[in-house]
Amino acid sequence: MKLGSVQEAAIKLEKGDVIGMPTETVYGLAGRIDIKEEIEKIFLVKKRPFFDPLIVHVNSIEQAKTLTTDWSLVANELALTFWPGPLTLVLPKSDKVSDLITSGLQSVGIRMPNHPLALELLQKIRTPLAAPSANRFGRTSPTSALHVLSEFPDYDSIVIDGGLCEIGLESTVLSIQSIQKNYKFQLSILRSGAILESQISEHLIKKNIPFEFVEETNKRLAPGQMKHHYMPEIPLIVIDSKNISQADILKIAQEKIHQMPDIVEGVEIRKPKEFKKAREIKLPIDARMAARSFYSLLREEGHQHQADLIYIIISEWHHSEEWRPLKDRLYKAASIVF
Ligand code: TXA
Ligand code: MG
Repeated sequence: MKLGSVQEAAIKLEKGDVIGMPTETVYGLAGRIDIKEEIEKIFLVKKRPFFDPLIVHVNSIEQAKTLTTDWSLVANELALTFWPGPLTLVLPKSDKVSDLITSGLQSVGIRMPNHPLALELLQKIRTPLAAPSANRFGRTSPTSALHVLSEFPDYDSIVIDGGLCEIGLESTVLSIQSIQKNYKFQLSILRSGAILESQISEHLIKKNIPFEFVEETNKRLAPGQMKHHYMPEIPLIVIDSKNISQADILKIAQEKIHQMPDIVEGVEIRKPKEFKKAREIKLPIDARMAARSFYSLLREEGHQHQADLIYIIISEWHHSEEWRPLKDRLYKAASIVF
């Protein structure tokens, strides 16, 4: 891939190619929802299994309404408040959305991204764009255009350079069911992100809308929740202890990682023959700053210091709600936790 303009990306999208698109969360690999070949290409280029559904990006509430058969009061309120922004609403799909996009589910994830170049592109082409994060399946999500280039060096297309992603972690995915058991909307957070459950609650209470949060227990309806995801090129280890030497870390990693299977849920576990050098990743203490730099630290720290593994110490870890999205990614990106 190479860097290009919004105009060049729009032309690529006319011609059946998928492109790299900046958003405020992470970069996406985007294809037009009305060109089947492009939707297939997204899965093929990413090596993504077809059972993991795509999020559809829109330029307005008007456009979102065309994608669902149930633009409910809750959907409208949340979109008015949090869009453009890092909140994906999972709603019953209309026939504008193919089964390929939703992996056969009757629902579709929709969001309006808060990035000027993504919005410019969406305005220009006037068609929604399906876009998962622009990384090979199971690997660390890209938060800069250069990350996208390095994920797909052999694929001949364009990445729009929109700078570093401001949020740095994927959007909150919220499913909304308006079949009102007890006259309440049923909400489930399928993936945590920068829009917090407390913010959603606060807003709906203020608007006098009856709702309750429920746990989505049907795995089929909450896909993409694999245990291993976001994994960096070299193993990441999460350590819940302060008094441990680097020599011990290397020893434990050597033993435990070599006992693991080579592939977990379709994601390869990287196993250097011998672990010689470990590098600690220290995250900023502010939750927003930590989220913003997390994926690029996972990608770059190990390389820069020629380490065989990276580790993060969580013994004095933060417990507040705003750290939840980062913790979710951290545990899934880790090869081992001890
Ligand atoms: O911030 C983001 O959401 C980024 C940017 C590019 O917008 N996109 C992103 O896409 O993270 P992806 O493919 O990496 O994650 C999409 C996840 C799926 O794995 C699944 O968990 C959930 O969104 N999802 C999508 N459609 C769904 C549906 N109909 N029902 C349940 N979950 C769905
Ligand atoms: Mg992803």
